[in-house]
Amino acid sequence: MPSITLIQHDGQSQTIEAEVGKSLMLNAVEQAVPGIDADCGGAGACGTCHCFVEADWLQATGSVDALEEAMLGMRPDREGSSRLSCQIDISDDMDGLVVRLPEYQM
Ligand code: FES
Repeated sequence: MPSITLIQHDGQSQTIEAEVGKSLMLNAVEQAVPGIDADCGGAGACGTCHCFVEADWLQATGSVDALEEAMLGMRPDREGSSRLSCQIDISDDMDGLVVRLPEYQM
């Protein structure tokens, strides 16, 4: 199981063992990682699972499709590394992945 580290806005971090084939959002929520609301349950329709992927991991986590781009575009805190964590499916090559979480979800 890949180890994934999620860093809160205040610097606190949590490392989880993630299930391959399941989204980053689901892995985090099921393991009680705070800071991800995921109001739409992973449909890519709410933008409340926003995270920032550390630069070294941008390629491994894949590209942003049109739906994700539309949702991210509504976030004022969007950065170049922004992703919806429900759109990142965990794979074995993501062992060591680090993401940061925004100050708040909206
Ligand atoms: Fe709603 Fe990801 S959970 S966009």
